[in-house]
Parts: sequence; C-alpha cells; structure tokens
Amino acid sequence: MRITVIGCGYLGAVHAACMAKLGHEVVGIDVDGRKVDDLSAARAPFFEPDLEDLLKEVQETGRLSFTTDMAEAKGSDVHFICVGTPQKKGENAADLTYVDTATMGLIPYLSPGDVVVGKSTVPVGTAARLANMIESAQPAAHLVWNPEFLREGHAVSDTLHPDRLVYGVTGGSEQHDAVQVLDAVYASPLESGTPRLVADLPTAELVKTAANSFLATKISFINAMAELCDAAGADVTILADAIGLDDRIGRKFLNAGIGFGGGCLPKDIRAFMARAGELGADQALTFLREVDAINMRRRTRVVELTRELCGGSLLGKRITVLGASFKPDSDDVRDSPALSIAAQLQLQGAVVTVTDPEALENAARRFPELHYEKSTDIALRRADALLLLTEWRDYRDLDPYEAATLVSSPRILDGRNVLDPIKWRAAGWTYRGLGRP
Ligand code: UDX
Repeated sequence: MRITVIGCGYLGAVHAACMAKLGHEVVGIDVDGRKVDDLSAARAPFFEPDLEDLLKEVQETGRLSFTTDMAEAKGSDVHFICVGTPQKKGENAADLTYVDTATMGLIPYLSPGDVVVGKSTVPVGTAARLANMIESAQPAAHLVWNPEFLREGHAVSDTLHPDRLVYGVTGGSEQHDAVQVLDAVYASPLESGTPRLVADLPTAELVKTAANSFLATKISFINAMAELCDAAGADVTILADAIGLDDRIGRKFLNAGIGFGGGCLPKDIRAFMARAGELGADQALTFLREVDAINMRRRTRVVELTRELCGGSLLGKRITVLGASFKPDSDDVRDSPALSIAAQLQLQGAVVTVTDPEALENAARRFPELHYEKSTDIALRRADALLLLTEWRDYRDLDPYEAATLVSSPRILDGRNVLDPIKWRAAGWTYRGLGRP
C-alpha cells in the first residue's frame, strides 16, 4: 500500500520506518525541513535504539522517503496523523493546534476511499470532530482512531510487534470499510497473532488515556508505599516483589523511585482531568490529582534526602547527578524528574554536575545553568555525593570500589533503587535508596 505519515517526531519517524519495513511504500511529511533532511539521510533526529539501522535498511529498498510538501500525500491509500499534542501553556488541557493543522492541510489531497488514521493522543471527542471535518470535504473518505502505545527506548519493537491494535471507527462496527484497509496495513503483526479490537471513536480515544492513567497510577501507588516504607523502616523493593507475584497485580511498573516523567504520562493525565471537567465528569478523575501530587513529591523528597546525606546543608556541596533523560535508552528530557531535581539542588546552593550517555545536548538546551560532563569518571571526581537518577546500564554497572577512589566522600542516593546496597556499603559507601532502610 502507499502510506503517508504526517508528523515525523518520535511517533511518526518510527511509524514511517516500521510501515516501510512491513512492505509498504511510505512518504513521511513534516513541516521541519531539518528533520526531513536528517531522516532522508537515514539519520535519526533523536536517540532511539535500532531506529537508525532500520532507517538505513528500509531506505535502501526505496520504499521510504520524507518531504515537507503535503501535496505528496496525494495518491496514498492511508494517511497516518502522528503530530504532537503538547500541554497548553499555562493550562492542563492538550494543545490540538498541530492535529487540526495537519488534518486541514491534508484534506485537499484526499481521494474517495482514502483512510485517515489518527495516532496522536487526543482528548475524547476530537476524533468525531475531525471525522466531520474530513467527511464534509470528502464524503467518501474515512477517519479511524488507532492509538499508539509505544514506549521510548523500545519504539521500533513496540511498533513492529504491538501487544494489541485498537481501531476506532464511526459506529464501532467490524463491518466498517476502513477496518479491512487497516487490516491490510497491519497484515504482518495480525498474522503473528496480535489481538485487534474494533471500537467506536470515543472508546478508542479513551483506551489510550486510560492506559497511561493506569500506568501513572501504578507508579504513584508504589511511590506512596515507598513513603510509608520510609516512615515504618520497611523495604519497598521487597514489598513490590511480593505483591507483584499476585498475577492480578503484576510486578511491572512497580519500581519505586523518583517518579515518572517524559512527554506522555504527566501531560496525558493532566489533559485527561481537564477533559473530564469539560464533560462534567471531573469527580471520576480527582484521584489523578493525587497521582500527580505523589509523583511531584518524589522530587522534593530527593532534594531533602540529598541535604540529609550531605550532613544538613547543600551550600557549596559538589553533587554529581547520574542520568538526565526521563528514562534510560532515550535522550528525551521532557519533564525529566532527574533534571528537575538537579536544577532544584543547584538553586539551593549545591554545585551540580550532570552526566548522561545521550541526553546532555537536550539537557543543556533546557537547563543551560547546570554544569554538564560527558565522562562519568570526570563527573565523579571530587563529588561530595552521587545521585543515580536515571538507571542507564552504565550506572547500574558502576564498580563501587573504583568509584570510591574518584569521589571526595563515598555517599550515594539511588533514586531508582537499582543498586545492591550490600555491595555498595561493603565498599565503604553511605547508601540511601527510596523507601528502603
Ligand atoms: C509511556 C507509555 O508506557 C506508553 O505506552 C505510551 O505510548 C507513552 O507513554 P514512555 O513515556 O516512553 O511511555 O515511558 P514509560 O516506559 O511508560 O516510563 C514513564 C516514566 O515512568 C519514566 O520516567 C520511568 O522512569 C517511570 N517509571 C516507569 C517508574 O518510575 N517506575 C516504573 O516502575 C516504571
């Protein structure tokens, strides 16, 4: 099939490459000429394992191209909308400018029978509005809502082997013409047994926000337990292992630490609350306010613990922060709890050095006032305390004996509970975890 992917950011660039890998002819469209140039040269504009190799592989087949010209959408059977829906400035609601602009820009190039597929995360009700816009201009075109569940750091495999496919169509019927078209797009994952659910438009939109809200709630639940464990002298990591063995609960997403960040969970729960308010159902989601509050409290807690670890004052203390991205295997620093903690420590008088294997450039753009150091060894030199805030493999594998020879005082706060306290204490370190005695 010939496929258009509009918006070549995180979601779109990966989706375009994966659709070409599945055998389709794909044109990726973006307003940002630099991004288009990078992708055309098979360079990923952000760090994502496997993406660059995949771009090289599919571009050699001639099935993948990128352009800034929307007119190139003409002639495609399917048009994916993959633009961002950031949080509105000064508000909790989602900003739909990019989704609306992309749809309006695409409409003149639609032909009868074309399927427009929304993948962006949108407030419930958006798809029905876009469907009206499309159908009033081109009555024989259809809109499907097909939420995307990919995780950064695993984006390629999540797209090629999704754990489910959800198609939202007007009326929610399996017999809708667009269902067959999407089945052809996803023929390969469907053949390998990926479950596929057909729903109406609002249900499909809600699936995505509900899933992200559940994940955020799970993380805040275990972080609330960490607060209790701290108060009671208990160990949240063992608690998580023990409750996680109940398969109704499950161990995944029960890692207590400095909390969730990134371009999705924080903004999606806020936009969900804002939308519930507009629908007169705000009470249903007031618990998400608590989820958000527990999450933000983690950052303050780490600042306080660091102060304790440094003997009661942060003034002039040399603090080294290991990790700047919001999670490992990503250079994304949007709403990164690690960077937010680093900035708060610096504001309170500490001398902060941040190191990260991939995210330093993005971090420096967001927080130019912090000091950045690429080499872990140099960053460790003469530190009064280390803070492991993003659990990159390099930091999990640090040798506590070697590290002790570099720092000025062997004190470490493990913000992700990924180090072995026994090993670190044996090497002479004062070790603090979160929710661990
Ligand atoms: C998330 C959803 O997982 C994905 O399905 C959706 O499509 C987009 O949003 P992503 O933002 O890539 O994906 O990150 P995710 O792996 O969900 O992690 C989010 C944050 O939660 C990270 O900051 C991570 O460090 C934190 N986290 C995750 C925890 O603090 N504890 C956990 O147990 C798991």
